[in-house]
Amino acid sequence: MNRPVAITLSSFKGGVGKTTSSICLATLCSALGQTLLIDSDPNRSASMWARKGNLPFQTATEMSAHKLTSQQRFDFLIIDTPARPTEEDLQELLDSCHLLIIPVTPDALAIDALGAMVKKLPQGANFKILVNMVPPAPQKDGEEAFQLLREMGYPVLDRGIRLLKAYKNAAAYGKPVHNVPGGKIAWRDWTELAKTQPLQSLLS
Ligand SMILES: Nc1ncnc2c1ncn2[C@@H]1O[C@H](COP(=O)(O)OP(=O)(O)OP(=O)(O)O)[C@@H](O)[C@H]1O
Ligand SMILES: [Mg+2]
Repeated sequence: MNRPVAITLSSFKGGVGKTTSSICLATLCSALGQTLLIDSDPNRSASMWARKGNLPFQTATEMSAHKLTSQQRFDFLIIDTPARPTEEDLQELLDSCHLLIIPVTPDALAIDALGAMVKKLPQGANFKILVNMVPPAPQKDGEEAFQLLREMGYPVLDRGIRLLKAYKNAAAYGKPVHNVPGGKIAWRDWTELAKTQPLQSLLS
């Protein structure tokens, strides 16, 4: 691998799962190669999650990542960002990664914010939408969101992430989600997501 595969998580809307998804993606990547999670959110949520030292990858702020990447070879960089990027931020994010992932929750407000963000992306931008916090059956919110997003012609990752309490516990204990009670079920979504394109190609 010549240069690290870089995946950035970004969204206009806050609280849709950028940090949680960054931690899960970095956990997936850490089984495949040297992984660095870059926390570029001033709230430092990912760094706080990592602080207990129970995560299987390194974490750095944007500033310290420069030094670290010049000293160590990484195969994967996962970049967590704050909500509401400006148009300039978006261009920079796109230029510096192989794939931009925009998490969205299956509700009207989040899908509206997603639409506003997609409009700001330059033509040909390489991005995928991750449907997160899909509520359990018989609720159909997940299915409906997938249908709507596909009808709108958006590039959606072919697997959603279920709404499960294990994520909150994982954050509270500073652990990867598969290491907390109920987390094995949650983790299945991520191992299945890793089999979908373009993630499968990027992670192989
Ligand atoms: N799949 C999920 N199931 C249940 N809870 C989830 C899931 N994904 C995220 N959460 C919870 O939703 C909340 C917001 O998630 P997170 O902090 O990852 O979002 P964010 O987009 O990074 O937020 P911000 O914009 O503030 O940085 C957290 O409490 C997190 O534990
Ligand atoms: Mg966050």
